[in-house]
Amino acid sequence: MAEAFNDKILSADKADRYTELAAEIAAVLEGEGNLTARMATVSAMLAQSFERFLWTGFYVVDPTNPRELVVGPYQGTLGCLRIPLGKGVCGVAAAERRTQLVPDVDAFPGHIACDSRSRSEIVVPVTDPTGQLLGVLDIDSAELAGFDETDARWLERIIAESFGH
Ligand code: SME
Repeated sequence: MAEAFNDKILSADKADRYTELAAEIAAVLEGEGNLTARMATVSAMLAQSFERFLWTGFYVVDPTNPRELVVGPYQGTLGCLRIPLGKGVCGVAAAERRTQLVPDVDAFPGHIACDSRSRSEIVVPVTDPTGQLLGVLDIDSAELAGFDETDARWLERIIAESFGH
């Protein structure tokens, strides 16, 4: 009971932080058309807003090999450079174009471990205004079940506002 109550308070607090952050990101990106600059800014602002984020960044569709994702702008420890579409959490999110909310990375078949401290992960597909897949936003947490539906919906919204309009 108390746990459910605390979860509710935490997620209200989290939604408030995302509300502010979404507006701040939109303000900073205003007028900037360069995709790398936009991705670098989104990853930096997300990473600074949430201490619990261990690795925050993008994998982008490789223009020379669209069957592969290549690492883009990120904040965190060294990430792997390439991920085939359909492999790992990022590759599945890209192939299915669906957010992957993974409470326990050890329970996700084919999860790619870049940082052994990572216990949970969320990956949101990134599409351009025409609906073409640009890549994915990947965020790792050192906590089990570090992300919930509040994170999923807000991150999807920030990604849509930053890259899909
Ligand atoms: N865990 C990801 C790989 C990328 S790193 O976490 C930075 C995956 O399974 O796709």
